[in-house]
Order: sequence, then structure tokens, then C-alpha cells
Amino acid sequence: MLDVVKEVLISEEELKQRVAELGKQISEDYRGEDVVLVCVLKGAVMFFSDLARHITGNVTLDFISCSSYGSSTVSSGVVRILKDLDRPVEGKNVVVVEDIVDTGTTLHYLLKNLKSRNAKSVRLAALLNKPDRRKVDVHVDYQGFVIPDYFVVGYGLDYDEKYRQLPYVGVLKEEVYQ
Ligand code: PRP
Ligand code: MN
Ligand code: MG
Repeated sequence: MLDVVKEVLISEEELKQRVAELGKQISEDYRGEDVVLVCVLKGAVMFFSDLARHITGNVTLDFISCSSYGSSTVSSGVVRILKDLDRPVEGKNVVVVEDIVDTGTTLHYLLKNLKSRNAKSVRLAALLNKPDRRKVDVHVDYQGFVIPDYFVVGYGLDYDEKYRQLPYVGVLKEEVYQ
């Protein structure tokens, strides 16, 4: 385990199993329908690529970069689109794939933005949900794990752009960000 990690919150094995379950559920819900999977860079990257491999049927992948944190551990509340989707989603079933819903600021903005493009449907798949921190209501259609208010890194989640590559979700030691 990395020395900045206090404990493993969700192991590689637990992630693998839950992601497979979510993929199966999404495949069943969209049977016979086309789906656009939208990866919210960069945090969702690991979840997105693992989840996509468990979805059967006609799937296309697209990417959006929507950042609200910068290098701070606290959300600024301001959402910016740094890179937009390559293709229009008008008339499409969109599943937004996120690593975590924290204050809800990012997803509230993003879901509203995608719905305004006249998608046929817009749903959210979020690996982690931290309801204790919620400031804006966000409905999570496909949820991996509900977690307490710990600062977590790994499996895509960063602290100051670091530790995304860890294969598990770990709790960052307080002394790293204090
Ligand atoms: C993080 C995380 C979510 C968002 C959640 O992204 O990946 O996208 O914050 O926080 P919120 O619910 O309070 O909006 P970040 O802006 O750090 O960019 P990143 O994905 O590139 O790390
Ligand atoms: Mn993110
Ligand atoms: Mg981040």
C-alpha cells in the first residue's frame, strides 16, 4: 500500500465485482437500445473503461472534461467544460459515468447541460456517492458504493492530480492535505 494511504476503503476485488453488477444492470435496462457512455474526465476514467467492458449491446463512447476542483480539496462551486463531447447527443440515450458525487455541483450542472441538448434520456452512473457532503440534489441512477466523508483517492480519484493510478479506493492520510 502507498505510504500516503491510511486504509483501503474499497479493494480491487470489490470494485471489480460491483462494476460488473452495474454493467449487467445497465445492459438489461437498455436492451435493444443504443447507448452513449459519457466519461467525465479525468476521475471517471478507470470506472468508465471497466464498466464499458461489461455493457452488452450497441454502445458508443464519448468524453467530456468538466472540472470544478482545480488543485484544491474543496469544490470551488464553479463548473467549467474544458473539453466537450465530440458528437451531438440529440435523440440519444446518454449514461454519464462519474467516479464520485460529492457536493453534487459538477453533476447537477452536467446533467442539466446534457438534457438541454435534447437527449432522448440522460442517466447517471456514479461509482461513489458521498451524501454527507451534498449541497445540490443529484439523482444517481446506478450507484456503486455509498461512502462516508473521507478524502479518497485511487481508481481514477486524485489528490492534486496524483494517485489516480491506484487499483483500489483508499483513504488519504490527513497529513497529506492538511
Ligand atoms: C471531481 C470528481 C467529480 C467531482 C465531484 O472532479 O471526479 O467529477 O469532482 O465533486 P462535486 O460533486 O463536489 O462536484 P474534479 O473536478 O476534481 O476533476 P477530475 O475528475 O479531473 O479529478
Ligand atoms: Mn471529476
Ligand atoms: Mg479531482
